[in-house]
Amino acid sequence: MQINRNFLELKDNYLFAAVGAKYRAFCKAHPEKDVIKLSVGDVTRPLAPCVISAMHRAVEEMAHAETFKGYGPDETCFGYPALIESIRGHYARRGVQIAAKEIFISDGAKSDLGNLLDLFSAENVVLIPDPVYPVYADTNIMAGRKIVFADANESNGFLPMPDGGVKADIIYLCSPNNPTGAVYDRAQLKAWVDYANRTGAVILYDAAYESFIRDDLPRSIFEIEGARGCAIEVCSFSKTAGFTGVRCGFSVVPQTLSRGGADLNRLWARRQITKFNGTSYITQMGAAAVFTEEGEKEISRNLDYYRGNAKIMTECLDGLKIPYTGGRNSPYIWMKCPNGMSSWAFFDYVLENACVVGTPGCGFGKNGEGYYRLTAFSTHEKTEEACRRITELLK
Ligand code: MLT
Repeated sequence: MQINRNFLELKDNYLFAAVGAKYRAFCKAHPEKDVIKLSVGDVTRPLAPCVISAMHRAVEEMAHAETFKGYGPDETCFGYPALIESIRGHYARRGVQIAAKEIFISDGAKSDLGNLLDLFSAENVVLIPDPVYPVYADTNIMAGRKIVFADANESNGFLPMPDGGVKADIIYLCSPNNPTGAVYDRAQLKAWVDYANRTGAVILYDAAYESFIRDDLPRSIFEIEGARGCAIEVCSFSKTAGFTGVRCGFSVVPQTLSRGGADLNRLWARRQITKFNGTSYITQMGAAAVFTEEGEKEISRNLDYYRGNAKIMTECLDGLKIPYTGGRNSPYIWMKCPNGMSSWAFFDYVLENACVVGTPGCGFGKNGEGYYRLTAFSTHEKTEEACRRITELLK
């Protein structure tokens, strides 16, 4: 019996599990303290009313033999037409035409980001920005793939660009970036698309935070000419519509994307129909309500609420003269640890002295050392209180 020994190459704990363990240990040792969590990007606003109504209606349908639903439609890998059409409408409003068969409903971006790797050989080289969402590196370590990192740092505005000297088959891009909040503009994304088309690489584009973009910046890689020949886009309802506990996302795999003589849309459909039985009907009906006119209005109220938190935090850091990125087109604030402190030293210092938990930047890659990430997904009250304590500690 041989196990997959690649798993032994992973760090002992997934980043947010390591942070969670520190948080729990601190709370256990100091039960009297009120600890504020601004670490994992988990939402706090309730679901939008139209999502709740749509889910209630779907529950009611499940209660009657005439309207009850079993497995979803297999011709669209269990995605219901109502949701697929609402996603198509969401893209079309930005001038992007996506065919129904190109949209695959999932239980969230994290699953797809890992599962899409089934399409590619373990021999492929993967290019991953550093720092970035740890799932990209961890899932490729599990598969035993060679990883090349693209440095993201202050000198390139945390937005690495293609390097002609680097050969990669799979390229991850995350924009707005988790953790830095940096966002690629059209010219920069076009450079990546041209590079991938030239070299035959495939871009896995993580657009989980696109709804936070306020400036005139691309919200989908398919806004860029040529992307349909080289990119797969992975999206989520988690941060857009507060679905972290509901679980729904989708991937767009163009029918025009082929590599090694194979059509990746067909391969992905084959993979999903074999290994996945779909996202629940009730969840899909809730998600379909998100991109209606009413849904867009209601979710924008929640997005504005989180933007308000980001403003509270950026004003706090401005007041302390601490450099940061993010917070404007992203729910994350990526701050430099003061006085040259390391990420974990600062994490411990803030936890012990202000009872606030953030995420150590080094958990997102070596270039994250010396940085610390705060999330805007908490409540106004907790965000304000955390900022008051941080100001008190660092002023
Ligand atoms: C984060 O905090 O980076 C995200 O919430 C993690 C995730 O979406 O899985």
